[in-house]
Amino acid sequence: MKEYTSESLREMYLSFFEKRGHKVIPSASLIPENDPTVLFTTAGMHPLVPYLLGEKHPAGKRLTDVQKCVRTGDIDDVGDERHCTFFEMLGNWSLGDYFKKEMIPWSYEFLTGAEYLHIPSDKLAVTVFAGDETAPRDDETAELWEKAGIKKESIYFMPRENNWWGPAGLTGPCGTDTEMFVIRKPKCSPTCNPDCSCGAFLEIWNDVFMRFNKTAEGKFEELKQKNVDTGMGLERALCVLNGKSSVYETDLFENAIAKIEELTGRK
Ligand code: ALA
Repeated sequence: MKEYTSESLREMYLSFFEKRGHKVIPSASLIPENDPTVLFTTAGMHPLVPYLLGEKHPAGKRLTDVQKCVRTGDIDDVGDERHCTFFEMLGNWSLGDYFKKEMIPWSYEFLTGAEYLHIPSDKLAVTVFAGDETAPRDDETAELWEKAGIKKESIYFMPRENNWWGPAGLTGPCGTDTEMFVIRKPKCSPTCNPDCSCGAFLEIWNDVFMRFNKTAEGKFEELKQKNVDTGMGLERALCVLNGKSSVYETDLFENAIAKIEELTGRK
């Protein structure tokens, strides 16, 4: 099995998207510049909100980066095997440029390609938006997954709670998403699915198709441009790829843990 380090994975991600016409941009500050509705930068798309809404980005319409994030929404889960408050998000964006037809095959190629993450296709599952009054069922995305190589029985249609992402704060760009999971062990029951807490499925990547702007009145307005916003948690991806059971068994934490062991004399 290939060993991945945090540095090799960051580089692999950025160069994959650079080769597909993306400009690498630096991580923005953890203190959001453009959003008074939140305290911290919570996602890679957060510093890009004005550009997702239509402003021209100086680096163009295809961007990629590794963004430092702080999330407190799931703080009660921090300390388990897979949730961190501070984490790094590998991401890429289409600002009114490509959409689903390009992004789903790229996602599949990066996840399964021998020179990339090399995850066997039968160890992958995806979720897709099931449809509601704001947006219809996303059959196009499901078909693109199937065409790429995901088995039909590993494509799950899920409601808004699972497959709608954003806005990052109270208002802003948002839309339906498709989430990618690694199947880590057999399902706990015939009805087990990626939403089950048994640990059979671990989410590693999310492609958001941002077509809406949520207004202060809570309305969803169609944006002038169709955007793609994706995010892959670096710590989780490393843990899965290296066959570890926890995000703490990665090179991001190992040195600090070894030092604490040395100072305390405890394992
Ligand atoms: N913005 C999306 C997320 O954070 C990609 O999951």
